Formats: sequence, structure tokens, C-alpha cells
Amino acid sequence: MRRTILFLTGILLSIPSLLPALDNGLAKTPPMGWNSWNKFGCKVNEDVIRKAADAMVASGMKDAGYQYIVIDDCWQVSRDKDGNIVPDAKTFPSGIKALAEYVHSKGLKFGIYSDAGTKTCAGRPASRGYEFQDARQYAAWGVDYLKFDWCNTGTQNGPASYATMRDALLASGRPIVFSLCEWGSNKPWLWAGDVGNLWRTTGDIVDKWEGKANWGGHGMIDIVDLQVDLGSYAGPGHWNDPDMLEVGNGGMTTTEYRSHFSLWCILAAPLMAGNDIGDMKPEIREILVNKEVIGVDQDPLGAEGRRVRKDGDLEVWAKQLQDGSRAVVLLNRGNGQQAVTVNWEDLGYPSHVGATVRDLWQHKDLGAFTGKFSAPVASHGVVMITVRP
Ligand code: GLA
Repeated sequence: MRRTILFLTGILLSIPSLLPALDNGLAKTPPMGWNSWNKFGCKVNEDVIRKAADAMVASGMKDAGYQYIVIDDCWQVSRDKDGNIVPDAKTFPSGIKALAEYVHSKGLKFGIYSDAGTKTCAGRPASRGYEFQDARQYAAWGVDYLKFDWCNTGTQNGPASYATMRDALLASGRPIVFSLCEWGSNKPWLWAGDVGNLWRTTGDIVDKWEGKANWGGHGMIDIVDLQVDLGSYAGPGHWNDPDMLEVGNGGMTTTEYRSHFSLWCILAAPLMAGNDIGDMKPEIREILVNKEVIGVDQDPLGAEGRRVRKDGDLEVWAKQLQDGSRAVVLLNRGNGQQAVTVNWEDLGYPSHVGATVRDLWQHKDLGAFTGKFSAPVASHGVVMITVRP
């Protein structure tokens, strides 16, 4: 017998959080860009970064709103006698400033990675004790975005460590998006609103639908489960970050990648592509540049979506948009196709209201509906719509 569990959320609608926000004027909508880690790991070099910048323009991703090209771990190799951080001369022979200039010449912004502890996660020199010096260096290089990790931090205090780097970045005089990466260890949603522009909420994503990797990484849908209840902490300038995208990396089906992208957008998550964007199949590119779906992520109200219904494997996620309409993801986590229904009452609308429904993957108006909308949803798939009374 099928056991049906029905959860109706008490609070149906999200309003953007009223917590204080970091006052650097940045990331009023979730940051969009590309980061080297998920595809290239430590095998990153200046060529990879230049090609990513070229591809971001050529693929239409820049037109769709992607902006930041971020080098993750492994660009740094030592410190000089004055304590200045030294890039790896083998992999970054032109230096970081020249690379930043190249990225800027494409009309894009440039990001870099460090860590709050003594060493980065890959064992490279990190920023503990060098925060102000590093921030000054980043500003001089033209860095626009810093991802700051949490490896090798011993007994360091999380909020204090990240506040030090925030102050260092502010003191550098250059607007730099501050991306906290402490994996949710210290519940950053409770304190990071005025520290960072985004904060990771979980350990690392793995390029698969579900289940843990042996090193502890989380499957995509497991990460989604960990976002339930965090929605009220996000808003313009300060976002929950469920980690970078795996879309296109090969471990999931196209249907699953479409679900991954739709869920990140309903969550108002940062959209950092993590695949080889210079070499992607047309169906992957189509996911990453779907402007209607991206529009949900980038809606200026900045409300994070919530799971408003769960009935076994079938879920409904909804996000309030600035014009009062709702974006909705109908999700089927089960093994066969099933119909998923959203009731207007799940969305905070009275059931007698008539509303137009538009399908954001088919790019098609589906007509007017009263009280509810149902659609067949493929296994591990979504139907993503707007509901506009
Ligand atoms: C941690 C982070 C990842 C990545 C690696 C780099 O695991 O969570 O996103 O930056 O470190 O070493």
C-alpha cells in the first residue's frame, strides 16, 4: 500500500529575508558565472580560463546573464619573501593580472579562490594571517569575486574568520563579491547575511542524481533536500549557495540536468556553470541559456522558492516573483512517469482564481486554469511553469 505523506507548508509564500545584508552593493540577484573546479579540479591553467571566457561569449551564456569567470583551487603555489601570494608560474605564466585583463576585455568579470585556514583544500598556501595583504593583491590584480574555503582551519572561529576577510575586501576599495564556502558547518545562514554575498549550505555536490560519494559529496537531489527550510535567510545581496552546477559533466541524463537547473533557479541559487563550456552538446547549452528559467532565478524580488507540497516522490516547489505571479517546479523523483498537480492554494492563491500557465521549457502558453494545474512528469524530470492570475 502506498503511503501518502502530504506536507502543506504553513507559510506558503516567501518574502525576502529582513536580515542585514552585506553593504557592498553586489549580487542584488544571484551571481551567475563559471568556475573551474567541477570539471577541471587541480588541472587548471590560464589557457583553460581564457577558453572559458571565450566560450562564455561565443555560446550565448554572456547574453543570458553569466558574468563571472572564477579560478578555483590550485592557481597559487607559494608566498614570496614579503608574504605576497605567488601564482604557479608553470600553469599561469602570464600572471593573474594579465588573465584578469583578458577576462575583462571580453566584458566579463574575474574571480579567484582562497581559504580561511593555513592551506587550501588542495594543500596550496591559504590566507590565514594574510587576509588584508591578499585582499589588497586581489584588488590590484582586478579581482571581482572571491570564493573563500574552509579547509585546514583547526579551531578557528567561523564567523570571525569570514568577517576578517569581509573587512579586508571592503578595505581594499574594490567591489568584490564575497562567496563563503564553509559547507554549512557553522550554519552560515544564521550569521553570514552581513558577511558574504553567498554562502555554501552543504558539502560538495557530486555529478549524480542521488546518493553520497565515498569522500562525502552529495548527489544533486540530496542537496535539494538540504535546502528545505533555508529559504527565508536569502535575499538580494545574500544568497544560499547549494554549490556549483554539474550540468553537462556527464554523470546525469539530460532530463536530470534540466531538473538540476530548474531546481537551482527556483531556489534563487547562484548559477555557476561547472562544465567545459567550450565543448558542450547543444542540449546542454540549451539548458544553461534558457532565459525564461534564468529569469526565475534572477527575478528582482529575490525570494527563494520553497517546497510547498511533498507527496512521496512527487513534489511541488514554488517561488514568488516580483509581479505577484509564481514560478513552479513540478518534480517527479520516482522511477516512472506520473502526473503532478499544483493547487492554487499551495501557491497562496484562492482556488476560484483563474490564472494563465506558461511552460518555461517548451516556451509555450498552456492556457487558463482555475484552482489547479496538472501535468505528466517524466521520471527524474520536471515541468516548470509560471502561474499568473
Ligand atoms: C572544497 C570546496 C570545493 C572546491 C575544493 C577545492 O572542497 O568545497 O568547491 O573549491 O575545495 O580544493
